[in-house]
Amino acid sequence: VLLSVCLNPAVDVTYQVASTVVPGSSHRVTQVSERAGGKGVNVARVLRQLDAPVRVLALVGGAGGQAIRTGLSAAGIEADLVEVGEPTRRTVTVVDPLDATVFNEPGPVVTGADWAALVQRFRSHLDVAKLVVLSGSLPPGVPVDAYRMLTELGQAAGIPVMVDAEGGPLELALAAKPYLVKPNLAEAQSLLGNIESFGGFGNRLGSSSPTRDEIVAAGRRIQALGARNVVISCGRDGLIAVTEDGDWHAVSAEVLTGNPTGAGDALVAALALGTVTGLPWPQRLRDGVSMSAAAVASPVAGEIDLVVRDRLEPGVRVTQLARAEELER
Ligand SMILES: Nc1ncnc2c1ncn2[C@@H]1O[C@H](COP(=O)(O)OP(=O)(O)O)[C@@H](O)[C@H]1O
Ligand SMILES: [Mg+2]
Repeated sequence: VLLSVCLNPAVDVTYQVASTVVPGSSHRVTQVSERAGGKGVNVARVLRQLDAPVRVLALVGGAGGQAIRTGLSAAGIEADLVEVGEPTRRTVTVVDPLDATVFNEPGPVVTGADWAALVQRFRSHLDVAKLVVLSGSLPPGVPVDAYRMLTELGQAAGIPVMVDAEGGPLELALAAKPYLVKPNLAEAQSLLGNIESFGGFGNRLGSSSPTRDEIVAAGRRIQALGARNVVISCGRDGLIAVTEDGDWHAVSAEVLTGNPTGAGDALVAALALGTVTGLPWPQRLRDGVSMSAAAVASPVAGEIDLVVRDRLEPGVRVTQLARAEELER
């Protein structure tokens, strides 16, 4: 089974509005949907859609927690839910014709006893887990090195661990040498910007976009910090993979419009499945790009449009990049 850990799940509320969001004005909501979400839950949903055996381990509380339980069960996803005293959070996404605007609540305060219970449950799943995905933010009270600790536990049991996080939790997790990390460009930039001044790369967030060589170099730096494989996702520009077996750029021939929330989660799901099924990197990355693009085409996060996936897959361009040391020879 693939174990998706979701320490801070959320009830995702999506508002569709007919015209572009203007701060300070009011907007008519044309459609409301509500469902169990959070990155780890979204990863599990996509894996379930792909018929992969998946289990969610999550911290939940209150009415929101009950909604997560119901939502996972309705989706046919196995779940082990550890109850905490405060309610599970909501996230609100406002989707207008051009863009999506997201409001993230911090989540419930988790006690030391809650956290200890989660870690104990985590250990109990390791005898059947083939791969672990750790994704999303940490709720208040969970130690900032939570992902490092879980990565160490998982990998000590011989299970590859993938981490999709940002900031301190990601930075600290690197020390445990996770099998793979998947920052998006902004997350990679802020990670390296926090750690050191990296050829200006860390400071370019929001200004000019970095070149492909700069992104590869960033992936290499993140690898040097501990990750065995690094996939930096670059939105419509696809992804750069810096792996133990080579570097690749993969991009969809088609740019899609829709709801980009959850694209990264679909990418993580595809990479997780490709890892346990032993796909070579180029095919893993091709699947990752076609599935994440197909997530943009689907209006709700945690779901991919399988028709779009099948249409895009053959057109994904996967290019192996020459390594500097190979060019020097
Ligand atoms: N507009 C788009 N068209 C096609 N593919 C996209 C688009 N936006 C995102 N993707 C795909 O989704 C992946 C993850 O998106 P990205 O925005 O980088 O991550 P995150 O959701 O974590 O911020 C990208 O690597 C790319 O393959
Ligand atoms: Mg992401």
